[in-house]
Amino acid sequence: MNIVHKVKKFVENECKKPTSKYGYEPLHFHFIPVVNYAKKLTDQLGGDKEIIMLAAWLPDIGSIIHGRKDHHITSAKIAEQKLKELHYPPAKIELIKKCILNHRGSQKNICTTIEEKIIAEADTLSAFENLPGLFKAAYAYENLDQGKAKISVRTKLENKYSQLHFDKSKKIIEPKYEAAMLLLK
Ligand SMILES: [Fe+2]
Repeated sequence: MNIVHKVKKFVENECKKPTSKYGYEPLHFHFIPVVNYAKKLTDQLGGDKEIIMLAAWLPDIGSIIHGRKDHHITSAKIAEQKLKELHYPPAKIELIKKCILNHRGSQKNICTTIEEKIIAEADTLSAFENLPGLFKAAYAYENLDQGKAKISVRTKLENKYSQLHFDKSKKIIEPKYEAAMLLLK
């Protein structure tokens, strides 16, 4: 089993555990879309594919195990531990940790390497695969009514779209963005 597959299995297992803070749903609605968009962007923009694939599985592992708060930091720690356990080279672990630490919208501007930029971008793009999750957050966590939830989801998607760095990303997501705007206007 190669290292990417081992890390994928580790993440799947953590999502399956009854202790997972958000259950099993994030695997299909967030983690896998992040990996798929990261793959797509790497094919078009370059970067170290193994680093990107490993980093793409791990940015939100901390939120599954400890909750969303500071999950970029907890995820980076868990990634370091897991990759060390798998005898992955320390210099490469550092690159992966940087991708994880800088993957969130708010930290995005400090991304320097193409690998970091691709992970942050894939994380942003994945929102467009998860409208049910955005509505779930609006209802279950923010206690909004239908009208306010619609505005909240629309605003989140507009913000995500405006955060995109690469023209390639905008091109990839444009049909979904336009469809969402049409449905949520
Ligand atoms: Fe995240």
